[in-house]
Amino acid sequence: LNALKQLLSLSFASPQLGASCKMTNAVCESSNKSWVVVEQCRLRAISRNLTIFNAIIDFLHPANNIQLLLQLKKKANGYKPWLFDYRIDACTFIRQRKHPVFKLFWLIMRDFSTVNHTCPYYIIVVTSHCLQGKQMVKDFYYDPTNITLPIPSGDYIFQLTWIFDKKPQLVTDVYFTFY
Ligand SMILES: *[C@@H]1O[C@H](CO)[C@@H](O)[C@H](O)[C@H]1NC(C)=O
Ligand SMILES: *[C@@H]1O[C@H](CO)[C@@H](O)[C@H](O)[C@H]1NC(C)=O
Ligand SMILES: *[C@@H]1O[C@H](CO)[C@@H](O)[C@H](O)[C@H]1NC(C)=O
Repeated sequence: LNALKQLLSLSFASPQLGASCKMTNAVCESSNKSWVVVEQCRLRAISRNLTIFNAIIDFLHPANNIQLLLQLKKKANGYKPWLFDYRIDACTFIRQRKHPVFKLFWLIMRDFSTVNHTCPYYIIVVTSHCLQGKQMVKDFYYDPTNITLPIPSGDYIFQLTWIFDKKPQLVTDVYFTFY
């Protein structure tokens, strides 16, 4: 985790870190509706400082060749270029869980996935063609007191691009404020 913090903090100049996190918008867009159907992708306000994210996404055909591109952008007079930009092979990641940033992301997400040990949601997919069927995120929120990210206060977009057979098929954007 320390190595990860070092890695992430290279992205940021300011040491002023946010202690709380609130999602402000979520957008999921399929660029191939014969493969990926977004049934639900929305935030719900629970209280003034808490929103939860729910998504149901249908993968109509098996995906074998899956890459995930994870990007973070900060708002400051418009959104700046990507602060980071990591791409992994999803199947390799699932076997080895080596990439420190994706690993952290997976730790943050995993408790909110539909419990399905054959094919755990979102960060997917154990063997070849495991990513199929309905995948869900349920009542997700990120609580920085559990897993702290070295991210300075501000507005961000967190973007995950799902690339199947070398073509982007789905983009999920989550907007959030660190404060
Ligand atoms: C869209 O999805 C279909 C069904 O899986 C697939 O055959 C086709 O190659 C995809 N198109 C692109 C541009 O990836
Ligand atoms: C929201 O604010 C309340 C009261 O200020 C606090 O008890 C709670 O922990 C906060 N929740 C989050 C997710 O920050
Ligand atoms: C797990 O996912 C597979 C494939 O999507 C599905 O066929 C199966 O019914 C699911 N199992 C549970 C317990 O949800």
